[in-house]
Amino acid sequence: MKVQIITLFPEMFEKVLNTSMLWKAQECSAVSFELIDLRTFGIGVRRTVDDTPYGGGDGMLLKVEPLVAAIEHAKKISPNSKVFLPTPRGTVFKQSKAKSLAKQNEDMIIICPRYEGYDERITDWVDEQFCIGNYVLTGGEIPAMVLIDSVVRLLPGVLGGDLSAEIESFQQDDVSVEFPQYTRPEEFRGKKVPKILLSGHHAQIDKWRKGDE
Ligand code: ADE
Repeated sequence: MKVQIITLFPEMFEKVLNTSMLWKAQECSAVSFELIDLRTFGIGVRRTVDDTPYGGGDGMLLKVEPLVAAIEHAKKISPNSKVFLPTPRGTVFKQSKAKSLAKQNEDMIIICPRYEGYDERITDWVDEQFCIGNYVLTGGEIPAMVLIDSVVRLLPGVLGGDLSAEIESFQQDDVSVEFPQYTRPEEFRGKKVPKILLSGHHAQIDKWRKGDE
């Protein structure tokens, strides 16, 4: 899967994409990332990317021309990519969506809006608008990271070993019902690990983990 990220702040992604699982996912060629600096597609010598809204209102909007130019640039490299736009007006992003995107394993272009928003005409170049929760963030970078992390960890070969797959199998529909887990020591400041987990009875442990006990 190739993921192209259109942003005014590529530096925000450097650490996140090159740490832990997302780094590992690149190492095993499950994913590759390309950061596209929207400023490169700005207009004129000042590389302008924003302007005031028609009809008045606070703040600035991202202009349509630089955004479309950036998408067209990304599509030259990956013509069949799906274009994603994070927005509080989008469909709420759930685990089931992360799973289906990982299964489809299609290339993605993610636009990261800034300022007060974007010229609505950009949505004609967008396949999916998503929202990561009922709150408003200052930009699309963090929602883009949420989308990337939740999808890439599910790509084949990224999560380590059978145990992770087993834990995933306890997830029902959209809601994670991941069970509580413990490691050594058996007792810490009087707080004990549940006895069942020390019993070695795997069938009973599975039952406990599913909440059937
Ligand atoms: N942009 C600003 N807030 C957002 C949210 N909650 N989800 C997606 N994109 C956003």
